[in-house]
Parts: sequence; C-alpha cells; structure tokens
Amino acid sequence: MEAQFITKDAGLTFWLARPQDFDEVMAISNGIYGGKDYLPHRYHTWMTEPGRVVIIARRSGKLVALDSGLVVDGGQTVVMEGLRVCMSERGHGVAGVIQQVTDSYVKQVYPSVNTKRLTRGDNPPPEKLSKFTVLAQRAILTLCGEAESFKGFVLGLRAKLDTMEKLNDNKNCLVAVKDSHQLKALLLDPDLSSRLQLPGGAIIQDWQPLKPIESNLEILERRNLTWLANCASDKPTFMSFHTPAYPIPFNGGSLRFNIDMFGANLSLARKALIAHLEQETGEFHKCVLVNIYMPQTIWEGMREFCEGHEGVKQCRNYWSQLFLEQEIP
Ligand SMILES: CC(C)(COP(=O)(O)OP(=O)(O)OC[C@H]1O[C@@H](n2cnc3c(N)ncnc32)[C@H](O)[C@@H]1OP(=O)(O)O)[C@@H](O)C(=O)NCCC(=O)NCCS
Repeated sequence: MEAQFITKDAGLTFWLARPQDFDEVMAISNGIYGGKDYLPHRYHTWMTEPGRVVIIARRSGKLVALDSGLVVDGGQTVVMEGLRVCMSERGHGVAGVIQQVTDSYVKQVYPSVNTKRLTRGDNPPPEKLSKFTVLAQRAILTLCGEAESFKGFVLGLRAKLDTMEKLNDNKNCLVAVKDSHQLKALLLDPDLSSRLQLPGGAIIQDWQPLKPIESNLEILERRNLTWLANCASDKPTFMSFHTPAYPIPFNGGSLRFNIDMFGANLSLARKALIAHLEQETGEFHKCVLVNIYMPQTIWEGMREFCEGHEGVKQCRNYWSQLFLEQEIP
C-alpha cells in the first residue's frame, strides 16, 4: 500500500499509518504503559476500523510518533487514543504537533466533529489540564497473578461473598444481558445516565468513552463484550461488562483483562467481579493483569474484598482514569 502524505510541520512529515508500518510503530512503543500497551494487539484492527484515523510522524524518514482518533457519537466526537512519541524525541513538543495535525485532519475528513474526548491514566497537574473540561474520574483496581491462580482466587471470593450475603440477607442479583435487543433497551433508556451515574454521561469501554446513543451500539457490538446488569427491576442501577482478555507485552507476554463497572453498589460490584472472572478464567494463560474500573466510592471496598490471596494480588496502588473533553474549533 502506498503511503498517503498528509502535511509537514516542525521538521516532521505526517502520513496515514499503514499495516506495513507495524514494526516501526512497535519499535517506538517499547516499554509504553510499563508493557501493558494495547496497541500491539489492536494495530491491525485499527487499520480497517470504520471512523478510525491513525497518523504517524516521520523525521528524515524515521517513524517518531503516532496518534489516533475514532469518530463516535454519530460523528460529533473524536476519541483520541494511542498517542506516543519515540524516546529520543520526547520533551520537545512533538506530542503537541502530532495532536494538532490529527485534530485538523479529522476535522477535514469528518467536518461534523466538534468535540475531542480522551482518557488518561497519568495524573497531570491542574495547569496541564487547563485546556480541557474534566468530565469524570474513575478509580482503577489492578490485580495480577499467574493464570492457574485465578480459579482458587475466584473460589475464595465466592466463599467470602457467601458469608457476607448470609449476614446481610442480600437479594441483589445480576443477570446477563444476552442479545442486542436487550442491550439496546438497557443502553438507550433515557434515565440510564442518571441512574448509573455514568461518568461524564458516557460508557467507558476499556478507556474508550462512548455516549449511550444508537449510533454507538454498533461500535460496542464490535468489541464482543459480556454484559451484566442487576435484576432488581427493569431499571437497573448497576451495569458491568468485560472485554475479552488480550495479549500485552508485559513480563515477556501476558494477558490484560478489563472489567468496566457503572453504578456505586459495592455488593453488586463484588458479584460482578466474580461473574466476569468465572466466565473468562478458562481463557487465561501466562500472567494475567486485571483492571477493574469503577466509581471511586467503592474502590476501597473492592480492594478489601480482593485482598488475602497468595497468587492473585493487587499490583498497583490506587490509580484513576481521567475523562477529558475539549472543543475542536
Ligand atoms: C506522553 C508523550 C506522548 C508526550 O510526548 P512529548 O512529545 O514528550 O510531549 P511534550 O512533553 O513535548 O508535550 C507536548 C504536548 O503533549 C501533551 N501531552 C503530554 N502527555 C499527554 C497525554 N498523555 N495525553 C495527551 N496529551 C499529552 C502536552 O500537554 C503538550 O501539549 P501542548 O503542547 O498542547 O501543551 C510521550 O511521553 C510518550 O510517548 N509517552 C509514552 C506513551 C504515553 O504515555 N502516551 C499517553 C497516552 S494517554
């Protein structure tokens, strides 16, 4: 495939990324997110994903940076993902330049886009965030262990839960959201956002924020998610899903398993954790990193629930996901 030139700026040339740029992209990605980078797994899907723009920067022919955006929310929003700059070019504003190029290219190809959204796992000082509106912040609990430890871990969680539930006589239960018809009814309910206190009014799927609107259902269906919601009424106050575990470079090759939770009910969150793990542990191999994204108010309770197992441990202190928005003029 011939490279498609976009523009040049600050001594760099900008191009649309192609499948054959993969090795060069990986060469600048070494060590990103401490080895928990999703891009090695997603790069080739990104090349053909509808609404996706992936831009690379080259200096004297050498690939030095990448940025990407996915147009969502019926063409109104671009969700930025994947930003990275090679080690030797960092700290000189290259990230700023490639972001500007990506913004204007997206605007040129998709003129209806007027908002840019992104999520970040670092903790930038307020002055770095002045150009953004902070829409929400979610807590993340990270666990890790060898695949074979997870069965025992889940059995232990179930035993703890049984004891707790007997004490509290808790009748809250969860059901699977099985088909696209049920999912549509759940997500397009106009009260959903307030009932579940959706972060910034969005469903954040493995760092990707999407408004619960019809045009995004197709994007969510592409992700092959497994959904749960509480069965107390037809107006659930808790919802969760997991993304199928995928390979990451960590520790010479590991799996990353993401569970996103919405609604601040600790009892349901505990049950959801067990249910999601039970459904996926059969797929686990090597070392597995589990990220559980949730409202901040239930993080401590979830941490306590998960502690005390020899093989599966909390492997990162409290950290959070920032959800940011910026207008694109
Ligand atoms: C984060 C990273 C891309 C910054 O690259 P850089 O060229 O050194 O960036 P600079 O320090 O020169 O800052 C340039 C701009 O990028 C912005 N920036 C820095 N980190 C950012 C981030 N995580 N998300 C969005 N923008 C970011 C800065 O705010 C600055 O914007 P401004 O010029 O409009 O003020 C680079 O350190 C990197 O590749 N890190 C590893 C991958 C990573 O953590 N990516 C973040 C994805 S959320």
